[in-house]
Amino acid sequence: MQTHEIRKRFLDHFIKAGHVEVPSASLVLDDANQLFVIAGMVPFRPYFLGELEPPAPRVTSIQKCVRTLDIEEVGITTRHNTFFQMAGNFSFGDYFKREAITFAWTLLTNSIEDGGYGIDANRLWPTVYDDDDEAERIWREEIGVPAERIQRRGMKDNYWSMGVPGPCGPCSEIFYDRGPAYGREGGPEADEDRYIEIWNLVFMQNIRGEGVGKENFQILGPLPKKNIDTGMGIERVACILQNVDNVYETDLMRPVIDLAQELTGREYGQNDSDDVRFRVIADHARTAAMLIADGVTPSNEGRGYVLRRLLRRIIRALRLLGATDPVIGTIIDRVIVTMTPSYPNLATEAERIRDTAVAEETAFLKTLAAGTKLFADAATQTKEQGRGQISGSDAFTLHDTYGFPIDLTLEMAAEAGLSVDEKGFATLMTQQRERAKADANARKVGHADLSVYADFLEGAATEFTGFDELTSEARVLGLVSAGQRVRSAGAGSELEVILDRSPLYAESGGQVGDIGSLSSSDGLRVEVTDVQKVGKKLWLHKVRVLDGELVEGDEVLAQVDQAWRHGATQGHSGTHLVHAALRQVLGPDAHQAGSLNRPGYLRFDFNARGPVTEAQRAEIEEIANAAVEANYPVNTFQTGLAEAKAMGAMALFGENYGDVVRVVEIGGPFSMELCGGTHVANSAQVGPVTLVGESSVGSGIRRVEAYVGMDSFRYLSKERALLAGLASSLKVPSDQVPGRVELLVTKLRDAEKQLERMRADAAKASAAALIDSARQVGDVKVVAARLADGLGGGDLRSLVTDLRGRMSADAAVIALFSTADGKVPFTVGVTALGIEKGLRAGDFVSRIAPLVGGRGGGKQDLAQGSGTDASGIDAALKQIATIAGGDARG
Ligand code: SER
Repeated sequence: MQTHEIRKRFLDHFIKAGHVEVPSASLVLDDANQLFVIAGMVPFRPYFLGELEPPAPRVTSIQKCVRTLDIEEVGITTRHNTFFQMAGNFSFGDYFKREAITFAWTLLTNSIEDGGYGIDANRLWPTVYDDDDEAERIWREEIGVPAERIQRRGMKDNYWSMGVPGPCGPCSEIFYDRGPAYGREGGPEADEDRYIEIWNLVFMQNIRGEGVGKENFQILGPLPKKNIDTGMGIERVACILQNVDNVYETDLMRPVIDLAQELTGREYGQNDSDDVRFRVIADHARTAAMLIADGVTPSNEGRGYVLRRLLRRIIRALRLLGATDPVIGTIIDRVIVTMTPSYPNLATEAERIRDTAVAEETAFLKTLAAGTKLFADAATQTKEQGRGQISGSDAFTLHDTYGFPIDLTLEMAAEAGLSVDEKGFATLMTQQRERAKADANARKVGHADLSVYADFLEGAATEFTGFDELTSEARVLGLVSAGQRVRSAGAGSELEVILDRSPLYAESGGQVGDIGSLSSSDGLRVEVTDVQKVGKKLWLHKVRVLDGELVEGDEVLAQVDQAWRHGATQGHSGTHLVHAALRQVLGPDAHQAGSLNRPGYLRFDFNARGPVTEAQRAEIEEIANAAVEANYPVNTFQTGLAEAKAMGAMALFGENYGDVVRVVEIGGPFSMELCGGTHVANSAQVGPVTLVGESSVGSGIRRVEAYVGMDSFRYLSKERALLAGLASSLKVPSDQVPGRVELLVTKLRDAEKQLERMRADAAKASAAALIDSARQVGDVKVVAARLADGLGGGDLRSLVTDLRGRMSADAAVIALFSTADGKVPFTVGVTALGIEKGLRAGDFVSRIAPLVGGRGGGKQDLAQGSGTDASGIDAALKQIATIAGGDARG
């Protein structure tokens, strides 16, 4: 059975049982604590926690998932993929264990004709959590699985959580017995290669607290309702139903391996190390394509780094298999073809996905060359030192800086007849991993701070009133100071306040939080400096108490700073105008990759292949300002996500299906975006839009910055003042400034040339005078002089060389000094006949240098130095004669 059919049957089965189908969410959700969606339930987290109303009590989905914890293991084992599709059915306080178990069982074991998967019931082994007698009983009595095929397992295997605080619960897993050829008898407890997990039924009923891993955490208490979260691995079921050994042989992966065979001329299934490479290519290419499709671009941190690693591992694997040309584009094309039936957006985005991968390939092939050179140097050095082993630190640098997986280094070393200090390498890798873990823990602690709010999260939510009013009456729900809940706070304290309603905008969607105040008739005065959201529904006001006392339960008047808000709306609407203009000029591929706006200023990041040209920049600015001039009305309205998308509204990541979304429309088709921000009433209120910068912020991502409103005007006005200043200094009207500057530059250049010529002439003239000044010391002619200030080493050198030529008929030494910029440059030359008599320019220099507080050196005919003490020049000049007189002759 083809994968697409497996997907379809799953959805049909659950739709028939009253579930609403929900499309897969993006792999990238708006949550800094999660790199990617790792399970089907992730987009539904707020429903389990009771933070949001689910779209229906029963839903089903096939969610795209990416897990990248063990990238290095991919292809070595054949059970895991970094990208996989998790089919799930979910109940939010509706049905529980009995139905969940029955639904799963019937789909797996119903015959093909009946719409099931037709799996032999005798091959299925359920597991249950240690003390879950209820689940065990259902499996045994109601489903009829013999007791000896049901195993009880501990927390590590049968208690599910996301690894971070959030919903959790005991689970029951279903394993498929692949038969004696795959391993030992004895159920999943004995052998998880033979008994392969295909479905996990989570009885989601508790909230997990802080802690590490799968076992060491506290259970904070029950969720508001008992829920069901199940996940069936589409790829694993495909393995079984397609009767293949492993996921790489299934219909969605094998075509990529086949293509890799064609491209490299090697064959899959011939030797283990090649096979791992083929699997790496098939696995990573699919994950990379899916990530790029969801807006991730390669970079050096976070999600972008994972993508970069994946792409580099593919490229490397291809090279190791013998590919010499850039081929990743072809591989990505094949992935797109196989995956498009389930993910039609891959076809429409094909060009962008491919280009992103190809750009990374081009970049990596360059590092690959640099890394190969580093390797060659390390290898040569190792051999020269008579050692046979490349050091662990070289291997680590190759891995860390040049992206060389250790297997490449090992293979290259073997070719060079060397080995690698793998232990040293492993130690460095462990150290790096520990640093990464420490980072990850630090991030989780940031998340843990939220547990303080768990009290208020129960049922509470802040009502945002700020679309309609700037002042609202509100009640203080809670106060938090330095991470601790407090009951009251006096003047001078800085803390966080949660209100039941608030007109202040909390930072999100690129718009910074509002500033404003809280006050009451009995003299309370509180300054609000920022507002952030917790758990999507509580507004956290960061405040400083100026006067009076803030007490939990108090009624206060919350007020937005009007001028601030006015600027904020200009900034945010301006961002939409720039975004729309950008897409008109650069095309629809200019995807938004992040934005920030605050009063008067905005910045906008987007995917682009190269810099925005000056002409494009001007055009974007023109279009944005024309939209301001058009005085478009700004309409906002609420609708379903699907409807909004159908209208052509631009959706970014982070929206959940079933969400009612807010659409902001400026001038009808001109700009339509899903957005929860605050906006002007009509586009004219944005004021002038001035693009001030265009830059790169990572591979494939550009950033534009702009001013709006009065800040835009002030910026332009400053520029004008600058120009006026220039015009007045140059004494021309401002439109003639560029011509005048060009003229001045030309004149300056001519003047410099002339000066140079004059210096040369003067030097020649002084050469004659210097020769005249030569003293006879014994049988040597000595020219030793301090010249005019301002001559550099180069000037002295050409003068000395000139004099050596002119005095070549004599045994002569020429020593010249000058002073320039606090330095004392000097040069000594000796003629050929002088050298015959034993004079050495280098000796002169090293002996006189200390007299002027400097150093120098050179050859026997010409040497130079530089000092810092001009007062020593006279002594140095005398010393020249002394040395020439005899004591320097070798
Ligand atoms: N959340 C569970 C899992 O990922 C079931 O969907 O296994």
